[in-house]
Amino acid sequence: MKQFELNDGTMIPSVGFGVFMIPNDGPTYDAVLEALKAGYRHIDTAAGYMNESDVGKAIKDSGIDRSEIFITSKLWLQDYGYENAKIGIDNSLKLLGVDYIDLYLLHQPYGDYLGAWKALEEAKEEGKLKSIGISNITVNLWRKFKDGMHVMPSVNQVEFNPFTQQKELRNEMAKDNIRLEAWYPLGHGNKDLLTNPTILSLAEKYNKNAGQIILRWINQEGVISLPKSTNPARVKGNIDIFDFELTDEEMNAIRALDTGKGTHNPEDPANETRLMGLKIHD
Ligand code: A2P
Repeated sequence: MKQFELNDGTMIPSVGFGVFMIPNDGPTYDAVLEALKAGYRHIDTAAGYMNESDVGKAIKDSGIDRSEIFITSKLWLQDYGYENAKIGIDNSLKLLGVDYIDLYLLHQPYGDYLGAWKALEEAKEEGKLKSIGISNITVNLWRKFKDGMHVMPSVNQVEFNPFTQQKELRNEMAKDNIRLEAWYPLGHGNKDLLTNPTILSLAEKYNKNAGQIILRWINQEGVISLPKSTNPARVKGNIDIFDFELTDEEMNAIRALDTGKGTHNPEDPANETRLMGLKIHD
């Protein structure tokens, strides 16, 4: 598995297994064990997914050394603000059953964001969190929060795929060497993307499937991807992308597919209201 370097010197496996929307108490446990067996060494969960305990159990039962597995989790909005965030971080550690988390993100850009960020900065200093980052941050939101941060985030996890290339955001993040992580790297199974003629012709040339071409392109763009699949063959296939290389011309052909839009606008007040209302504990 190819690794990328983050701006704090940490190495991160460039493809991770995402467990968004996989239920706890069994399904997440099975999926993570399967992913680890298939060769994944990077699992992306979140307090808000409510499946951190299954992730932790699967990692323990896998028999793979903790130090070989990169765990990402995220703080939910309900636990924002400095004091609440400290409790939220400890709760993630407890549910995962680990004494450090490799990467911990502020999941959504609302509420007492900078108070929560301060708690992440301190937890990084204490060694509870190895790296810290942000998620769903647009250029405007970045400009709003950046000056209140002492430690620069290592990643910004956002929607990213050939149809949603976040060009302006990437330029902005590059100034502080903040690496992009892609959620919905396969467009969440978007048929138009997965049957796009440019992608399909490359799939034929390299004897890969459409998803593998997209994930290889994302990898060559230097972006970490978090593909999701419930199909064992595709789970395996989605990390089998390191035995071929797209040419500059092919990279450009996929770059030309950008629509400049995505499915989620973090700046939409309706999203803020909806997400602020989601409670994950009493
Ligand atoms: P499945 O679970 O049947 O594999 P995203 O990661 O962007 O959210 O996309 C996930 C969707 O893409 C799921 O519907 C998943 O379906 C599908 N998918 C995952 N891997 C591939 C692949 N290699 N080729 C085509 N579709 C894929």
